[in-house]
Amino acid sequence: VHALHGECLDRSLRAAGLDPVLVRIPSGEDQKTVANVMTALGQLARLGIERHDVLVALGGGVPGDLFGYVAASYMRGIRLVQIPTTVVAQVDSSIGGKVGVDLPEAKNLVGAYKHPDRVIIDYEMLRTLPYEEWVAGTAEVVKSGVIADADLFTWLESNADQWRTRACDVGPALAAALKVKVRIVQEDERETGIRMNLNYGHTLGHALEAVAGYRGLRHGEAVAWGMAMEARMAVEVGVSDGTFVRRQDHLLQALGLLQPLPALSGYATFERLSLDKKVKAGRVRWILPGRMPGTVSVRDDIPAEIVRKLVDATVDGRLLNDS
Ligand SMILES: NC(=O)c1ccc[n+]([C@@H]2O[C@H](COP(=O)([O-])OP(=O)(O)OC[C@H]3O[C@@H](n4cnc5c(N)ncnc54)[C@H](O)[C@@H]3O)[C@@H](O)[C@H]2O)c1
Ligand SMILES: [Zn+2]
Repeated sequence: VHALHGECLDRSLRAAGLDPVLVRIPSGEDQKTVANVMTALGQLARLGIERHDVLVALGGGVPGDLFGYVAASYMRGIRLVQIPTTVVAQVDSSIGGKVGVDLPEAKNLVGAYKHPDRVIIDYEMLRTLPYEEWVAGTAEVVKSGVIADADLFTWLESNADQWRTRACDVGPALAAALKVKVRIVQEDERETGIRMNLNYGHTLGHALEAVAGYRGLRHGEAVAWGMAMEARMAVEVGVSDGTFVRRQDHLLQALGLLQPLPALSGYATFERLSLDKKVKAGRVRWILPGRMPGTVSVRDDIPAEIVRKLVDATVDGRLLNDS
C-alpha cells in the first residue's frame, strides 16, 4: 500500500503544512500481532510523537486495526485518521471503533474501542486492489445487504457481472454497505444487541480462516462460505428456505465467491468455533438470515449435530450440492 499510495499521501500532508513521519508494518494478516504493536509504539516513542500528534492509518483492515490500536494505546490515546484502501476496510473495518490485533490463540483477541476522528474514503484507491481482494471484499457488501439492506442485495443481483469486473460505478453500493455499518454501530456500539448482526457469515468464517492458518484463504472468502453455511443452518431451524439459500449462493458465485476451499479439517473447524469471541456461556452464537434479504436473527441454540454436519459439508465441498 505504501508503494502504491504512500507517496501521494505524504505529498498531500506536506502540502497542508504538516510534517509526517512514516511507520510501516509488512502486509498480511500474520502481521496483525502484539509484536508489531510493540515495534510501532517503540518507533513513535523514539520519533518523539506527542499527545497532540495524529496517527493516520493507511491501508486495509490489517494496518487499520493494528494502527488503530496503537493510536488507542500510545500515551493513552492520540487522534486517529483512517484512510482505508480495501473494500473490507472501506465498508467495514475503518468505522465502528473496534481496533486490535490477533493472538496465536485466536483472532482479534486483544483490542480496544477507538473511534477515528476522521475516515477518508477514496474509491479511486481501490483501482490498484488485486482482483482476488476485490472479490473477497465483496462478501462484506453482500453481508450488509442480507442483514439490513434488501435494495443493496437486489442491486448486486442485477449488476453482479459489472461489479465483479469493476465495470460499473461502485461508489453507491459501497456507500450503502458502509451506511448499514454506521447505522448499526450508532445503535449498539458495544455489541450487546443489533451489532451482533454484523457477524453474519463470520462465526464460521473466522473458524475457517483460523484453521487455514490465515494463509490461502482471505477473510471475505471465508465469510462467503460462512454465509452459505449459515443460510443452510437457518433452513434447518425453519427461519429461512431453499429459495433464499439458492438466491444467495447464486449471487455469491456470480460475484466470484464460493470458490473451492483449501483442504481443511472439519473436526478442527468445529472445535475452533467455541474459541470465537462470539461465544457466550459456552454457546456459539449464530446470525441467521430470514426468507428475504434485509433481516436476520441471532440464535445460540443450534444443536451441535447440525453444526457438525454443516461444517463437514462445507469443508468437504458438498455444501453447494445440498441446497
Ligand atoms: N475492526 C473491524 O471492525 C473489522 C471489520 C472487518 C474486518 N476487520 C479486519 O480486517 C482485516 C482484513 O482486512 P483486509 O481484507 O483489508 O486485509 P489487508 O489489510 O491484509 O489487505 C489485503 C491485501 O491488500 C493489499 N492492499 C490493501 N490496499 C490495497 C490497494 N489499494 N491496492 C493494492 N493492494 C492493496 C494489502 O497489502 C494486503 O496484501 C482482518 O484482520 C479483519 O479482522 C476488522
Ligand atoms: Zn468481516
